[in-house]
Amino acid sequence: MATTSVPTAPGAEWWRHAVVYQIYPRSFADGNSDGTGDIPGIRARLPHLIDLGVDAIWVSPWYPSPLLDGGYDVADYRNIAERFGTLDDARAFIADAHAAGIRVIVDLVPNHTSWDHEWFTAARSAPSGSAERRRYMIRPGRGVDGELPPNNWTAVFGGSAWTRLDDGEWYLHLFDESQPDLDWTNPEVRAEFIDILLFWIRLGVDGFRVDVAHGLVKDPTLPDVAVNEGILESALIENHPHWDRDGVHEIIREWRAVLDAEQAEHGRDLMMVAEAWVHPTSLPKYLRPDEYHQSFNFDFLQCEWEAGLMREAVDRALAGSEAVGSSPTWALSNHDVVRHATRYGLPPETDWRAWLLDGPHDALDAALGLRRARAAALLLLALPGSTYLYQGEELGLGEVFDLPTDVLDDPVWENSGRTRKGRDGCRVPIPWTVAGSSYGFGEKGSWLPQPARFAALSVEAQSGDPDSTLELHRRAIAIRREMWIDAGALEWSNKFTREEEQVLCLRRGDMTCLVNFGSEPVALPAGAVVLSSEPLRTDGLLPGPAAAWIRTD
Ligand code: GLC
Repeated sequence: MATTSVPTAPGAEWWRHAVVYQIYPRSFADGNSDGTGDIPGIRARLPHLIDLGVDAIWVSPWYPSPLLDGGYDVADYRNIAERFGTLDDARAFIADAHAAGIRVIVDLVPNHTSWDHEWFTAARSAPSGSAERRRYMIRPGRGVDGELPPNNWTAVFGGSAWTRLDDGEWYLHLFDESQPDLDWTNPEVRAEFIDILLFWIRLGVDGFRVDVAHGLVKDPTLPDVAVNEGILESALIENHPHWDRDGVHEIIREWRAVLDAEQAEHGRDLMMVAEAWVHPTSLPKYLRPDEYHQSFNFDFLQCEWEAGLMREAVDRALAGSEAVGSSPTWALSNHDVVRHATRYGLPPETDWRAWLLDGPHDALDAALGLRRARAAALLLLALPGSTYLYQGEELGLGEVFDLPTDVLDDPVWENSGRTRKGRDGCRVPIPWTVAGSSYGFGEKGSWLPQPARFAALSVEAQSGDPDSTLELHRRAIAIRREMWIDAGALEWSNKFTREEEQVLCLRRGDMTCLVNFGSEPVALPAGAVVLSSEPLRTDGLLPGPAAAWIRTD
């Protein structure tokens, strides 16, 4: 039996103030020299995460998968992909992490399986209306011979959301055609996922990041949508036929009851965090006491680098989570979005997804983006709640926007008719050393090419350099643990500054975080500066853009 976590009093659970580090296993560290990351690689690099001071690790899917959507196409929910290792490797990794006081969260992908999952293989060859087919959303088509899809829904990655089976019926896939949607009205599907939850809890994990948590339930009449919008825009449409439907909450409650029962019986401290791209006003419903413990905060993630907008996004998140007794989360990057060190270096209002392909790439001011990202790190780590960091963010990595199109792996590239480059640029294996094959990622290259600029950003290059982004993160996380976690409620207080409109100044007890969004230097409040993202000027002013933490007595 793997090590169990220590139970904590209600209100003081670990996840309420954790720094959670997201590992994308293909791209973290390659232990067996095949060009792809794996669990032995993660174990070997665990000291990096211990030095960084994280409280938990979220591992993106590590299950057997044809990798047609980077592993979010799961072929077997109770196993580890051969390329990543074995279940014993997973157990050993969890034990190592626990021994170091680090929790482990795994990714649960319930909206769809891979088309290589045994259920879908069975469904393909089973007759219409059979039990095998009823696990998925399989329907006859429209038109004289059923040659038209059942409705006009489009897939998030582009193209129709329906693909035809050999016998003429159609299956729904809200993402790639290799990801058939499960039918969550089927009790067998519901029972299966409870069993999967229990499998991983008993293997020792501390929680789950739940993929497409606002999906699962579809309007049973499968009506056409009025407008086919992207995943972000459709979150704003009321009564959408396949996003954010009320029925999803009953499923969440069922899962929560499983976690709570395991927790009560075995003294665990378990959690679930939702990936739900829903309107901020809808999000608190997912966070009611008998639903998710937390959800990602995409409202904040998508905010432009602008003091007023960020302040409003922080206030919305605080109010939303407080109303239901949850606690907020903060993240600026993950495996699906352009890294924020790059986004923040682009002219305001750039559509960063389109910019990857369309450019102009010389519009990017990478140095400015990095300065802003360093300042943002201090903001993120000073806020009440928990912070999710995406691997490489602690190194200040930017997006590899210049990947040649012939190496692209993300289904978005082909499914969009090569009009969207997709998400590979934030999934490039991370650099550990200044030289060597794939900058220390592994001994035999890396599955996506790394740019030469990675050498100077490697863990080796930055370790011990007090001005580096890595050392800034190490210090910030250590100080956060000591000074911010129990610092109390947030108040905005801009009275110390001369340039109010370009400054955010938040106070929690005797700690203040001042973020200078602009380029003009600003004065700091009285007190001891415990950390700043850029050196203070000789006149004591904080240059811009930069952030500082100040302790007042
Ligand atoms: C989530 C994942 C993303 C994946 C999609 C389909 O949004 O974060 O990477 O492509 O779900 O599973």
